[in-house]
Amino acid sequence: MLGARGGWQALRRCASLPRAQRAVRLRVREALGAREPAGEVKVQGWVRSVRSQKEVLFLHINDGSSLENLQVVADPSLENRDLTFGSAVEVQGKLVKSPHKMQNMELKAETIRVVGPCDIWSFPLKMKERHPLEYVRQFPHLRCRNNTLGSLLRIRSEATAAIHSFFQDNGYVHIHTPIITSNDCEGAGELFQIEVSFKRKIVETHFFNVPAFLTVSGQLHLEVMAGAFTHVFTFGPTFRAENSQSRRHLAEFYMVEAELSFTESLQDVMQVIEDLFKTATDTVLSKCPHDVELFHKYIAPAQKDRLEQMLKNKFVTISYNEAVEILKQASQTFSFKPEWGCDLQTEHEKYLVKHCGEVPVFVINYPYNLKPFYMRDNEDGPQHTVAAVDLLVSGIGELCGGSLREERLPFLESRLQRLGLADAYQWYLDLRKFGSVPHGGFGMGFERYLQCILGVDNIKDVIPFPRFSHSCLL
Ligand code: 4AD
Ligand code: MG
Repeated sequence: MLGARGGWQALRRCASLPRAQRAVRLRVREALGAREPAGEVKVQGWVRSVRSQKEVLFLHINDGSSLENLQVVADPSLENRDLTFGSAVEVQGKLVKSPHKMQNMELKAETIRVVGPCDIWSFPLKMKERHPLEYVRQFPHLRCRNNTLGSLLRIRSEATAAIHSFFQDNGYVHIHTPIITSNDCEGAGELFQIEVSFKRKIVETHFFNVPAFLTVSGQLHLEVMAGAFTHVFTFGPTFRAENSQSRRHLAEFYMVEAELSFTESLQDVMQVIEDLFKTATDTVLSKCPHDVELFHKYIAPAQKDRLEQMLKNKFVTISYNEAVEILKQASQTFSFKPEWGCDLQTEHEKYLVKHCGEVPVFVINYPYNLKPFYMRDNEDGPQHTVAAVDLLVSGIGELCGGSLREERLPFLESRLQRLGLADAYQWYLDLRKFGSVPHGGFGMGFERYLQCILGVDNIKDVIPFPRFSHSCLL
């Protein structure tokens, strides 16, 4: 809404200026939300439609501030051949009440300046066409001008802010964990190694003296901080060299990670995950209802109901053992036979969510041998497990992964010894020598979160510039 923050204050300030200097720049969102008419305003944006009639010229202008366009009404004499769909324009005139029911305000143009014409014949987006996501994905440099991507990017921006607010409101300290690191947190070997470009290479030496990689997770650095701050979080780019073209994997994605000290129960970590999901989603739904509606109406019509189920029900919890039993008894045939000791595949994860009524499912206590070195040993006999948790959601499978961390020095030392990692992780062992506390945390894939709330099938459509194997456009 146009309020104290926006153009109205500026409008008042400008009232005493000479006419030519008086025009106040308004964003489309502010203009649409205005409660009263205003003279001498200026709107800048891109033309979404042009309709020329005998008596009047109609334009629709969008500047990225809202899904809705601002209608401009002008005398046909202001038309010129550069004024086409896609062109960049600056329109000056008066904001007036619109006689049409569809909009509150419209701009009665006095001048229209085409700042940048658009060659509509070669422009891949077409006026008033609802292009499929697969089509606009081919044009990463232009697709943000399409309604669907515009909505997605506004939602992404609000969701980022909502996630930061959730943690800040709950007393977490935001830590910038490094992008360049010398460790492999997950131990899965999906690392991108960093090398100096060939031209500058000094033979046989590493720039950092040690091999360095793009981070696969900020967790270990957050654990460092959890030795001084009881609640920390990070939210940044994460990289995995997974040779996957799947609909839920990227080589570069954003991960939200939190670490909680003085936490002995996996339930505490799960409660934070559930609260984060529900609070951030409520905020997104209230901040950008029209943008979300576009997805729920045109992209994934069943997602609105599914999301309501997720928000109103308590998330379900089952153990890995129970999960395997459910899968073994399933009438469905899986490509991968479910067996105790094997990782759950996406098909298994999706089945489990369906089995639990499409409500998100926490699967806890995974086999010791499946999980990374830092997870806390449950010491539970022959079916040896660790205090790990994955959150599975409808249509996607794994959304979050977390665990209690092994805070006991002897357990950690012997596990690292067995893996041949004890020397490399001396600093990590130090954390257990100097004021070690029980702690735990989790990571949530931000793009998978967006897929989940909006019902977007392919992860490449919820990030501005997707990077995946064999593709790094722009
Ligand atoms: O389950 P992951 O591998 O967990 C960790 O990295 C922990 N160190 C996090 C922590 O405890 N601080 O990854 C966490 C989440 C996954 O559940 C998934 O949502 C997302 O990150 N993710 C990916 N998203 C997109 N593309 C990929 N290649 C992803 N790999 C993981
Ligand atoms: Mg995982």
